[in-house]
Amino acid sequence: MFQEDTVIHIINTIHEMQAYANRSMGRKKSIAFVPTMGFLHEGHLVLMREGRKRADILVVSIFVNPAQFAAGEDFDSYPRNLDRDLDLARKEKADVVFTPDRTHLYDDGFQTYVNLQKLPNHLCGISRPIFFQGVATVVTKLFNIVKPTVAIFGQKDYQQLAVIKRMVRDLNFDIEIIGVPTVREQDGLAMSSRNSYLTPEERPAAFSLFKSLNTAQRLCNEGIQDADQIIHQATAIIHSHKNTEIDYISICDPDTLEEVKTITNPVLMALAVKVGKTRLIDNMIVTP
Ligand code: PAF
Repeated sequence: MFQEDTVIHIINTIHEMQAYANRSMGRKKSIAFVPTMGFLHEGHLVLMREGRKRADILVVSIFVNPAQFAAGEDFDSYPRNLDRDLDLARKEKADVVFTPDRTHLYDDGFQTYVNLQKLPNHLCGISRPIFFQGVATVVTKLFNIVKPTVAIFGQKDYQQLAVIKRMVRDLNFDIEIIGVPTVREQDGLAMSSRNSYLTPEERPAAFSLFKSLNTAQRLCNEGIQDADQIIHQATAIIHSHKNTEIDYISICDPDTLEEVKTITNPVLMALAVKVGKTRLIDNMIVTP
């Protein structure tokens, strides 16, 4: 019997997931989809709650996608805890957790990638040149497998959300993309699975990302429009902590991600900073 309303289904194969999606469509049930790389935290749970509200069936995927990690990045050490993730997904009343095997998504002959021409050429795409190709490719594959009507992503990964929205438009996916505001720890640090790498001593430095964003808004409120001046102040805040290495601090157009020199309209301020060995990102829309 088809029991997606009462029992969590753990699906490992593409064929089974597609069959589930087809049966759901046949029964006129809509699917909300939350793609994740697992090691779930409150930020993911908020995405699931949003999905739960927006469709009949909630599907969560857990897949650490090798295609978005470059050599030397943390693919092997990326935190994983499937049992805990399944418990959390169950508590959030997910209907399906889709956990495909790496070889199912990328077999030996795999050679088709999705690339965007402009959005990846900014912010994280500069120091992580294959990252958005990997994200766009796996999200396309997951969309074709899960067949959602709506998919939910966090605004913490602002550029990722922008890339996916653009890709959905460009490739005519019939899927609504919802961005959900960043969920923060009590001290303001944006929630991320990678926060588990941080030592207690590194927390103040990690918090300095959010502090520098708030400082930017305060400077704008005081009438400062010069982006370089604001970036200079943000840099000083981050560098006041040892073991920090700034990848970028950017003030840019929220749609194109092109740099802005004079702030006359709302802008995106985004930054990536390594605290010890942990690369953290955060962002905020700053309004003049
Ligand atoms: O944001 C993430 O966790 C990943 O980039 C995603 C969207 C699940 C693709 O692997």
